[in-house]
Amino acid sequence: MNIVTTPDSVLQIATAAMARTPDERLRTVMAALTRHLHAFVQEVRLSEDEFEQALEFIVGVGQATGEKKNEVVLAADLLGVSTLVALLNNQDPQGGESPAALLGPFWRANAPLCTAGESIARSKTPGVPLDVRGVVRDTEGRPLAGAIVDAWQASPVGLYENQDPEQDDMNLRGRFETDAEGRYHFRTVRPAGYPVPTDGPCGVLLRAQQRHPNRPAHLHFMVSKPGHKVLISQVFADDDENLESDPVFGVTRRLIGCFEPQGDGQQATLQYDFVLEPGEMKFPRPPIP
Ligand SMILES: [Fe+2]
Repeated sequence: MNIVTTPDSVLQIATAAMARTPDERLRTVMAALTRHLHAFVQEVRLSEDEFEQALEFIVGVGQATGEKKNEVVLAADLLGVSTLVALLNNQDPQGGESPAALLGPFWRANAPLCTAGESIARSKTPGVPLDVRGVVRDTEGRPLAGAIVDAWQASPVGLYENQDPEQDDMNLRGRFETDAEGRYHFRTVRPAGYPVPTDGPCGVLLRAQQRHPNRPAHLHFMVSKPGHKVLISQVFADDDENLESDPVFGVTRRLIGCFEPQGDGQQATLQYDFVLEPGEMKFPRPPIP
């Protein structure tokens, strides 16, 4: 009989109840999720108070999500799950480190299409001018013309435009098409590191764990071309003190860019190349509108 007897018996009966799920992948994923969740509850012997707290945390994460902030994405980021998914699904075909990084909560679709060399600092954004160039290639090393390099970043005060009334809409966001040699080029200002939002349940968790919220300075990239898998990545400033303690675990050696100071240090350059794998060009759903 499928009647619950002991704590252990719940898993077996719950799994049996899900066994008729027609979608094979959903059946596999839910069976594994249920098995791991039960093992977790058993391992820590979750108390009723803790269970209530956990449910309140999940409700809070949803309630803290809105037009300006996606706390659900942030929670996945802070647990290392977003980085894990990015690395697992974007392994380097040559066996090197993954070229990918987590999307993060701040990507917006339809950033302005810009001409090569244009600046994405389109409202008054004081900061160290940064010149960014690179080449997009396929896995055979051939330059990819007509690829779109979508870049977005925080300002020198560490805020994305949608978090900061001082910045114009779409400031420090732009899309650039590669030329016949696969080259892209844009101008901007050096981004600052920034704390992930700490005014919601994720902030409560970080404080309880004595973790600092400060991400090392970085530029976000999404590189695409029809017939190729969309590459989502981040490039980190090599002189940032938080490279080894990114709260969302995005930094790998491959993703550390060389931010070269120019002249008296009043300007900088960054050269960073991308490789696109063959595949379907599928974009993520934007975490914020
Ligand atoms: Fe970011």
